[in-house]
Amino acid sequence: MRASSIAMVMTDPTLPDHPIVFANDAFLRLTGYSLLEVMGRNCRFLQGPDSDAAAIADIRRAIAAGVDLTVELVNYRKDGSAFHNALSLSPVRGKSGEVRYFFATQVDVTDQHRQTDELRHANLALAAALETATTLVHEIDHRVKNNLQMVSAMILLQSLDRSDLRLRDSLLDTLSRVEALSTVHHRLHRSGDVSRFDVADYVRDLLDDLVGATGRTDIRVRLDLMPVLVQAGKSAALALLFNELFTNALKHAFPPGTPGTLAVSIAREATCIVAVIEDDGVGVSPTATRLSTFGQSLIQTLSRQLGAETTIGPMSPSGTRVRIELPLAIVAAPV
Ligand SMILES: Nc1ncnc2c1ncn2[C@@H]1O[C@H](COP(=O)(O)OP(=O)(O)OP(=O)(O)O)[C@@H](O)[C@H]1O
Ligand SMILES: [Mg+2]
Repeated sequence: MRASSIAMVMTDPTLPDHPIVFANDAFLRLTGYSLLEVMGRNCRFLQGPDSDAAAIADIRRAIAAGVDLTVELVNYRKDGSAFHNALSLSPVRGKSGEVRYFFATQVDVTDQHRQTDELRHANLALAAALETATTLVHEIDHRVKNNLQMVSAMILLQSLDRSDLRLRDSLLDTLSRVEALSTVHHRLHRSGDVSRFDVADYVRDLLDDLVGATGRTDIRVRLDLMPVLVQAGKSAALALLFNELFTNALKHAFPPGTPGTLAVSIAREATCIVAVIEDDGVGVSPTATRLSTFGQSLIQTLSRQLGAETTIGPMSPSGTRVRIELPLAIVAAPV
């Protein structure tokens, strides 16, 4: 015990004021006192202004009850410097069970306290930084939303001019594309995770909006959508691509009086994600496929951006089937 590197003392509760009767070198090193200065004294000389009164009361109770105790309290060295002491206290009993001594070890845990304090400060700083970042994201969200709304409003105003009906239709198509982008943006920010985009949810909402806007009740929608989360960076292109294909089916496949079904499926396969958009409408006329319209070139450009393979073909007995093979690389990494 004398040579141990852990500070130890023994006290004798049978003597007046419960004095120290043994202290090892590690205890003297820890406290800065000499052996003569500690022998015969009650341990309370280690206490000072910052010693926790509740911890001191615990020690008193454990001694009175003759039980073990582990407690932490601030103690003071001879030179007045404070340290956090992890104190363990045990009664040592004689043959007939009476408490003969108390045996105590002291460990200086000031460093651990400092580290805990530093960690707590670092945590507070991180929380503050996170809050700043979140505020910034909200601010950007707000501005992008406002800007997109402004763009929509300008296009809408221009489309009110009825002197050129073809221009008006083009403007309304553009408006629908801008609105598709607005929805993507809105969804990303509403979801609480701006890094991933839920394709199935988006498709469901978009179709609701687009079919609703036609005012048609004779177009049925059938959905079979596997949940797929893609990287936010791909969301705009993917949303615009779906917007083009859904709009085409709703605009061209079912002339007034021709009811039908629009079926959309998304499935995750071994090497790719496959989206299929099918309608049982009038089908693309052979002359139409040779047209180089803006819609076609947009579909091609977006497919290229996504690394997707988009094939448009007829359905039997009638209608149009579009198959999009999307690379798995656009899928968002799991969190
Ligand atoms: N699902 C469909 N059913 C029937 N015809 C279609 C379908 N999709 C496309 N088409 C035909 O193909 C043509 C080309 O489509 P595309 O999307 O390129 O042009 P658009 O829709 O007429 O105009 P925009 O450039 O605004 O998209 C359409 O005009 C239409 O005749
Ligand atoms: Mg089109």
